[in-house]
Amino acid sequence: MQNERTFVMIKPDGLQRGLIGEIISRFEKKGLKLVAMKLVSVSKELAEKHYGIHKDKPFFVPTVKYITSSPVVAMILEGNNAIDLVRTMMGKTNPQDAAMGSIRGDFGQFIGRNIVHGSDGIDTAEFEINLWFKPEEIANYTRIDEVWLRE
Ligand code: RTP
Ligand code: MG
Repeated sequence: MQNERTFVMIKPDGLQRGLIGEIISRFEKKGLKLVAMKLVSVSKELAEKHYGIHKDKPFFVPTVKYITSSPVVAMILEGNNAIDLVRTMMGKTNPQDAAMGSIRGDFGQFIGRNIVHGSDGIDTAEFEINLWFKPEEIANYTRIDEVWLRE
């Protein structure tokens, strides 16, 4: 068991298209534990820090514009291999390539409107959790079904 925390964001298109409940429901039913969540109107500064690794890429400016165009839902999910698990549930970056059954595969058509973000590694998860949340915004609790989720 590799218990991990990952940072997940429902992007502006996910919120505007009424997909918040659907997306959270998938993570919830998978048994991932929600340990922090908030609605954020993202500043240019926060978006530029979040996507800082892509600052020299041609899609950097449009991506910052996209992420700041409407509120997002920011959350931290916890579970066994949560980082890779969430990436699998999201599907490939380009929704055209994402498997049916994944969030991007089921709901998206364009790479620049791909609905959801999830940290891509342990270091990124730590960086993004600290960037988006204060320690006191993270809840420590036990879910009543944990004993039945785990082997
Ligand atoms: P994310 O960081 O949002 O979870 O997405 P990702 O890891 O699957 O993809 P990444 O390579 O980190 O790209 C970050 C976001 O930039 C936008 N993008 N546009 N037009 C393009 O070629 C292009 N490439 C990337 C997408 O919104 C992507 O999610
Ligand atoms: Mg990424």
